[in-house]
Formats: sequence, structure tokens, C-alpha cells
Amino acid sequence: HNARLTIDPAFTVAPVRRRTFGTFVEHLGRCVYTGIYEPGHPSADEDGFRRDVLELTRELGVTTVRYPGGNFVSGYRWEDGVGPRERRPRRLDLAWHSTETNEVGVEEFMAWCGKAGLEPMMAVNLGTRGVQEALDLLEYCNHHSGTTLSDLRVANGAKEPYGIRMWCLGNEMDGPWQIGHKSAREYGRLAAETARAMRMADPGLELVACGSSSSSMPTFGAWEATVLEETYDLVDFISCHAYYEEKDGDLGGFLACATDMERFIASVVATADHVGARLRSRKKINLSFDEWNVWYLSRFQAAEPPADWPVAPPLLEDHYHLADAVAVGGLLITLLRNSDRVTAACLAQLVNVIAPIMTEPGGRAWKQTTFHPFSQAARHAAGQVLRVEPVSPSYDTAEYGEVPLLHAVATHDERQGTTVFAINRATDRPLALEIDARALGGVRVVEATTLTDPDVYARNTADDPDRITPRPNPDVQHDPLTVLLPPVSWNMIRLA
Ligand code: AHR
Repeated sequence: HNARLTIDPAFTVAPVRRRTFGTFVEHLGRCVYTGIYEPGHPSADEDGFRRDVLELTRELGVTTVRYPGGNFVSGYRWEDGVGPRERRPRRLDLAWHSTETNEVGVEEFMAWCGKAGLEPMMAVNLGTRGVQEALDLLEYCNHHSGTTLSDLRVANGAKEPYGIRMWCLGNEMDGPWQIGHKSAREYGRLAAETARAMRMADPGLELVACGSSSSSMPTFGAWEATVLEETYDLVDFISCHAYYEEKDGDLGGFLACATDMERFIASVVATADHVGARLRSRKKINLSFDEWNVWYLSRFQAAEPPADWPVAPPLLEDHYHLADAVAVGGLLITLLRNSDRVTAACLAQLVNVIAPIMTEPGGRAWKQTTFHPFSQAARHAAGQVLRVEPVSPSYDTAEYGEVPLLHAVATHDERQGTTVFAINRATDRPLALEIDARALGGVRVVEATTLTDPDVYARNTADDPDRITPRPNPDVQHDPLTVLLPPVSWNMIRLA
């Protein structure tokens, strides 16, 4: 059987949110040091940032970037990372059992964001710290001048305030692994008081309260409800985090992981709206899906933590294959399909640490397989997300029951045209996708690409960086418009 979808620009979900294409830079492993920053590297610029990584970051199409953690932020003292480098302290990073040299801090990060053209999403430490330190960081970053902290920023070289709009109130505070882990009520109260005070300094901030670290947390659902009861009027977003991996060789189940993300989003929306109803509030809380990716977490958990507190050890360096890229594409499709309520998202992370970009210290940088769905969607998703109502044959999975083989979304923009993003989850056969685009009037396929390979476990390496890369899809027919999607593939079809 064929799969079908209908494109009609009259039926929209919401605008494509530029913040859907966010990512994440944490002080973790080699994300910062030998990732974005490596002063001795042949491509390093005058500030020590790797130009090769900057270029790939631009090509990836990233819009926003969350910083400095992650678990790291819950033990972080932001003032360690400002001012003259030679005076910056070296600290134990308990989250990742590493030594933090503080060579990079908020100043360097903001300079890097400027070069990469990215909006920062700053996280404050609500693990070991609280309201005062969050206010201090906010004043340092966003106040123009004339106070001790803002003048310190000016003295450190940043005359203009950074004007950071979006702030995360802590990280994964529901997780027992988090430094300063709290109950929902304890965290909700602290987040509320932090948000209230931050808004006194700047009412225009956009604030994110921590939701659950995953939908399998024992407190999932109850956590969001309690935290939002405390913070509803004071925050704009509740966060969601989700990581997926292939388990026990169940490739079909893994390729269906967006099903979990879909349910996760629906549950958090329902929970937030329930709290809003009880409060008789007209306000809607949106979702910041600020950590999502494929992560072979079980391998990480089975490994020993680094011995002797190394500086920037290789950690969480997952090496992605084609099937991982198709899973990532499926997750992106789900985020786009939910653009009415998911208005920010961050692929975790950007470089080396479960990342689309890999580097060798002192050496090459290259694109992982997962780079491609992200960069194609970031570039070509524009205008409005359309309600396409796919119809598809399905298959059976152990984890999610019957799941459609096709997972797809389309976006439509007057100038840029219409783009369909689709994955075929079938492991053994191509899927013919019929696109009913009559409502667009006489459009044709101007570009059709597919990311696929006969070996679903094929990867890119520094020596063979384009083994997995989007290639033109030759199997396109007009009247009726039909595109053949290869087995286990990510596809982009542009119509104009
Ligand atoms: O992205 C890696 C880690 O995953 C983050 O530090 C943490 O927030 C999450 O558990």
C-alpha cells in the first residue's frame, strides 16, 4: 500500500518557530574545550574559537543555544568564568567528575554566540545556589552600567549589555543525580521566587521552569503539576527532556521513538492546561523541549566515571549511524508538528557530546549522520506548519503497538515554497508516498533528497565524512505526485 498526505495551506498548526532549531553547549566532556574552543588549533580565531566548528554550526542552521548546562550548571559559580583568565579558579565539576578550568565563561560564550549568530538561552544554578546568584548573573549580563556588577562586565570588555531574554530556572531538578535535587514543591517554590525577583529586574524575560527529565521518571506528570501550581503566573515555559536509543536490537521500535515524544508532549500540555484551568487562568504555558536526541545512555551508565578528575575528557561521544539520523529526523518532525505548544527546543548537544558535529583535538571536524536532518529542516522549514494528516500502512512494535511507517510534516511559506519532511520507518521495503498538492495549484517537485544507506548502521568518520549525506532521490513521479521513500530513510521534498 502507498502512504498519502494532503497539503493545503488553509490548514495550519502554527508558525514554524525559529527556536525549534536550538542546540546546547554544556561544560561537559569536549563540548567546550577542544569543541567550540581550542586556542592552539590551526583554525582558531583571535579569541581561541575553532573556525571549522563555527562554520559547521552556521551550516547546521542553529538558532538558539542553551548554556552552560545541563547537570553542570547545578554546581556552577558563574563568577568563576569572568575577568582575567589567569585569575580564574580551577574547580571540581561533580556532575561529570572532571576539572573545570573556567577558561571559558559567560563572556567567551557570549562572544562566541555573536560570531555564530545565535540567541543564548542562559541557565541559572538552582542546585547549590538560589535567588541572589541568579539576580547577580542577570545584572551582570543585562544591566547597562552604573552598578558594581554591570560595571564589572564593562570593565571585562563588554560595553553593551548582553540582553539575554530566555532563562532556564535550573536543570532537571527532579533527578536524584542532580546536585541539589529537590522535591517538586521545594523546587517550585524556589523557581517561583527566583522568577519573581528576576522579573523585578526585567519584566520582559522569558523564563523556563524545569519539567521532568524524561517521561519515565516516577514523578512524571505530578512534578509538572506541582511546579506549575507554584510558578504558573511567573514563567512562560515548562521544559521537557527526552533521549532515545535502540534497545536489544529492536530497530523497528527505535525508529518509532517519536511516538513517545508525541505522548510526552500531549501529557505535558494536558497537565499545564489542567493547572491553568484550576487557576482560572487565560495564560498558556508553552513547552521548551530543551534537551532531545538519540543518546546511548545505557552505555554511558555502564562505564566508569573518569579517574583523576581530568580536564575535558572524551565523554558521551556517541558515534551516530544512519538509523540514528532517521530517529532524529522523526523527533524533529514531531517537534514541528507540535509547534502550537512546543515553541522552543534544543538538540542536546552541539559538539562532541552526543552531537551532530565531531572534532579531533588539534585536528579535523566533521558532520555526524544526525547533522543532516537538522540542517535540512532548519534551512527549509519556513512559514507555517501545515496539518497534513498522513495516511500510512503501519507495523507492530513491542513498545508502542501499531505505528505508521510514514511520519511526516510539511511547512508552507509564500516565498520559500512548500517542503515535506518524511521518514520511512520500514526496515525491509520502500514506501511510495503520494502527495495531494491540488490546493497549491500546479506545483512540481523542485528538489527531492533522501538520507539512506543499504547498511543502516553506516556512520560518518573523519576519513569518510560524507558516507551518509543527503542525495537526490531519483524516484519522483508527477500525476499523481509520488515519491518513493527508501527503507529506513529521512527525506525532504520541496515543491514550488
Ligand atoms: O545532555 C546531557 C545531560 O543529560 C545533561 O547534562 C542533563 O541535563 C541530562 O541528564
